[in-house]
Amino acid sequence: EKGGYKHFMAKEIAEQPGVLADALNHYLASDDSGLALPAEVDFTGVDRVTLVACGTAFLACQVAKYWFEQIAGLPVDVDIASEFRYRDPVLSPKSWALFVSQSGETADTLAALRHVQGKVAKVVSVVNVPTSSIARESDLALPTLAGVEVGVASTKAFTCQLTLLALLALKAAADRGRLSPEALAARLAALRNLPGVMNHALQMGDDVARIAGQLAEAQDILFLGRGQMFPLALEGALKLKEISYIHAEGYASGELKHGPIALIDSHVPVIVMAPRDALFDKTVSNMQEVMARHGQVLLISDARGVHEAGDGIWASLTLPEVDPMLAPILYAIPAQLLAYHTAIAKGTDVDQPRNLAKSVTVE
Ligand code: BG6
Repeated sequence: EKGGYKHFMAKEIAEQPGVLADALNHYLASDDSGLALPAEVDFTGVDRVTLVACGTAFLACQVAKYWFEQIAGLPVDVDIASEFRYRDPVLSPKSWALFVSQSGETADTLAALRHVQGKVAKVVSVVNVPTSSIARESDLALPTLAGVEVGVASTKAFTCQLTLLALLALKAAADRGRLSPEALAARLAALRNLPGVMNHALQMGDDVARIAGQLAEAQDILFLGRGQMFPLALEGALKLKEISYIHAEGYASGELKHGPIALIDSHVPVIVMAPRDALFDKTVSNMQEVMARHGQVLLISDARGVHEAGDGIWASLTLPEVDPMLAPILYAIPAQLLAYHTAIAKGTDVDQPRNLAKSVTVE
């Protein structure tokens, strides 16, 4: 049932272009003229979106905050489900609450959902298991269509969550008059290309395995990203911790100098996730601060980024250039591959990491 792969995680990483294409077929009009989301997905009059989740799903929500705010101009709160109820969140009756969960059974996320019922205009869930409790108890459940995910560390569910959240942000932008039909069509065309681009990114397995052999020797590893790549840095660190047991942290690049830079020496690999976008130069200057302290930089960027900033770095991984909005979905692939190959190099149990469960049904 692993389809020729050594681990479910490897199989699920490789399945991403296929499941993403399926999800796009489901949620885009067949002639690519627009979105095919259920009619209830109408953001007219919605004044705020509250996103709540745990773990990797929470990090997908953090990426989505950038999309909803930058593209749709819609204010977003993002909460870890286990914290949400206890901060007594102020909820607008015109707002939507959106719960993201692979399993649809995570106890904290379900409790958070029950907390908002009757207090918001609509309770929406983005779930991978359509028969789950979270799906059943929400006003509208949108399936992520990633297929069954067995590996404890979430991979294809994450990229499918991101894809659906991107479509929701685009719908919000269109409903709020912030996106012309032409701009929407361009974004949808870029999304349609994404499975092919991901296939290309999956080819770098050998390069990643070589780098991972050295990462496996490290005690601590830092991930840096700016803007919508900041949550990806958090996801890179989370994946690595979960399955290789190496201590890893993700930071916003600009935050490095406010504390974590004290950790940098020649033994600390620093993984910089930076497509050549509007924030690239700022991230590069943070990267140079690391190099000045002898940190070993692995730059993950596109060919232009590696060409412009590659001097003096330890290693690089080159991805195709994509629409900047979609970079977090693409950059999930190297984050997953690095964690996977580092865990393989260390000999840990990739699919069943110690102390973790696929679905956590206690609060
Ligand atoms: C965890 C899993 O404990 O639950 C993570 O190990 C996952 O991979 C998190 O991201 C949230 O789970 P779910 O099912 O609500 O997305």
